[in-house]
Amino acid sequence: MTVRVPAKVNLQLSVGARRDDGYHDLVTVFHAVSLFDEVTVRPADRTSVRVTGQDAAAVPAGRGNLAAIAARALAASLHRRGKSAVQIEIRKRIPVAAGLAGGSADAAATLVACNDLWGAGLTPSQLRDVAAGVGSDVPFALLGGTAVGQGRGERLTAALAAGTYHWVLAFAAGGLSTPEVYATCDRLRAARGAANGAEAVLSTELMAALRSGDPAAVGPLLSNDLQPAAVSLRPDLRRALAAGREFGAFGAMVSGSGPTCAFLAANAGHARELAVSLTGAGVCRGVVRVKGPAAGAAVVAAKTR
Ligand code: C5P
Repeated sequence: MTVRVPAKVNLQLSVGARRDDGYHDLVTVFHAVSLFDEVTVRPADRTSVRVTGQDAAAVPAGRGNLAAIAARALAASLHRRGKSAVQIEIRKRIPVAAGLAGGSADAAATLVACNDLWGAGLTPSQLRDVAAGVGSDVPFALLGGTAVGQGRGERLTAALAAGTYHWVLAFAAGGLSTPEVYATCDRLRAARGAANGAEAVLSTELMAALRSGDPAAVGPLLSNDLQPAAVSLRPDLRRALAAGREFGAFGAMVSGSGPTCAFLAANAGHARELAVSLTGAGVCRGVVRVKGPAAGAAVVAAKTR
């Protein structure tokens, strides 16, 4: 059973107060893009995870891998006894710890694959409930498209968005730890004297621009409250963001908790030019052109061997 699953960027990431459980209340606009991992799941005697492709060595293998955690969470929710061990093979194209929710994507793909493999028949909304327990970004990787996330990011509402958006993603060397970026965000706010009680609010201007389908309108409205924290941990990102703006990107932002930077282009041709210019400027480890919105996790092949 093979499932393809997209990476995401956040078109808006409004971070509110830190809650008692350590998470932050947020309002975010998720947008799935056409950079995909593939996950194959086969019945096995014991659960294992094998990773190949982009940054494979940096992915935690074994029981601690989010995909293995997802398989166990699904088995538990089905009260499945025995016969729930699976061999999980992840072919990575989404870089690790990059702010693109690659680990969450693999977990989502594993849920879809096991649901099918085991004939469990959970509905998309039931699967999203299991996904929310695995990680904040996992439900969105199931849904795909463009959607508003609330709570920890797990409560989703599909967004009305017109058109196709052309992006260039600029990968950075190394990753950033999501908890560290959130903690840095809190520290920067405290140092500024900003209350921890900041309220996360959806940008109605951004939602209107998305309905118009016009990247020139969407670009200036992209926002990410985690960006100052990501840039303070990785000051080199400033150069990448400045270069993208200089090369005419309609919008330039850190994706999620970073360090990947996402640049919104006018169209496919502009994205090609932007990718070449960013590569030439030497401000990143590599670039990839993607389109959004992309579909969520979906079965591509039912063959298991
Ligand atoms: O849910 P997930 O395991 O992906 O979250 C990873 C970490 O990111 C959390 O442990 C927390 O530190 C931070 N986080 C947060 N608020 C959110 C989502 C994530 O503080 N809404």
